[in-house]
Amino acid sequence: MPFHLPAELAQQPTPFYYYDLALLDQTLAALTAAARPGNFQVHYALKANFNLPLLQRIRAAGLGADCVSGGEVQRALEAGFAPDHVVFAGVGKSDAEINRALAADIFCFNAESVPELQVLNELAAAQGRTARVALRINPNVDAHTHAYITTGLEANKFGISLQDLAGVIDSLDSLPHVELIGLHAHIGSQITNLTVFAELSRKLNELQTWLEGRGHRLPHLNVGGGLGIDYHAPDEHLIPDFAAYFGMFEQHLQRRPGQQVHVELGRAVVAQCGTLVSRVLYVKESQQVRFAILDAGMTELIRPALYGSHHHIQNLSSQGPFLPYDVVGPICESSDTFAKGVLLPETQRGDLVAIRSAGAYGEVMASGYNLREKAPAVYR
Ligand code: LLP
Repeated sequence: MPFHLPAELAQQPTPFYYYDLALLDQTLAALTAAARPGNFQVHYALKANFNLPLLQRIRAAGLGADCVSGGEVQRALEAGFAPDHVVFAGVGKSDAEINRALAADIFCFNAESVPELQVLNELAAAQGRTARVALRINPNVDAHTHAYITTGLEANKFGISLQDLAGVIDSLDSLPHVELIGLHAHIGSQITNLTVFAELSRKLNELQTWLEGRGHRLPHLNVGGGLGIDYHAPDEHLIPDFAAYFGMFEQHLQRRPGQQVHVELGRAVVAQCGTLVSRVLYVKESQQVRFAILDAGMTELIRPALYGSHHHIQNLSSQGPFLPYDVVGPICESSDTFAKGVLLPETQRGDLVAIRSAGAYGEVMASGYNLREKAPAVYR
């Protein structure tokens, strides 16, 4: 189905984020249908988009919440996620954040270091509680994705390296207010070569065997998120191939009887249902380049500027003929460029432009640089 902006939104002041809730519902239906046969528990990664109307639908579909800050934990609870469906991850959790999550009795903390476990133990003891913990390991698996969003390599700041794991496990003997319930790994984001999940599974299999040799049988395995989406042809793949993703773990992960497997997907759930809608302010022809200057910029969608990411751009007002444009924003940075040399139907001032696949890591990464006003969200 080609992209369609509801007619009444064509009059809306730009820029704005448009969320297609029917598409979100279809995506959630596909996700839960693919997860059910293997009994996978899906925790949605709020960092991709934490807008309440989306969260409420995600919760209603039966997903849990994967949070990386006290603010996200609070938002998840506000959206109605049950505390025992909330996980708190992150390499730098503050005492205040931990205290609030403990008080809410969330399901699990994904812990990443001995100092963090010590703090968890201390703060849990002070509240007369026990913190349930999954150890985030660094499996040293290359996710073959952009360097900024690769997380499972030795050089990354995330997780406990495999060489250090024995020491970390030993430290638990002296931490009575910490209960080890699982292992956690996340190797990166926007992963399109799914074979890396087979490699991750094999590492986790080895680790489980090793842990069992030391007397630890874990009820939970969390394999992280990372399933990528099609930024180039969104309309051909509006719904990611969830069956292929879960299939990798079904095939390669040796699940113990009764063991729960958790995944924490963000992008694959919400990217395609969001579109950044903008207007052309000016078309400027320089000696070498024809610029379409939009009223949206890196302040509304930083991914192209930050990672060189591609987002599909459509002129919704013009039929052609097609000409090459550099599509740029109004911000005082040369990196404020959405695309270079992209073919668009002949474009003029006032044309409506859709920047697709902006539902994940779009609005949440918006900034007020250049004292820009926050662009609103509309839901249909
Ligand atoms: N779990 C952990 C521990 C994570 O660090 C992440 C993402 C996820 C789950 C969700 O990953 P997803 O399913 O969305 O790939 N701003 C970047 C992406 C940063 C991802 C950070 N971690 C971008 O715009 O591409």
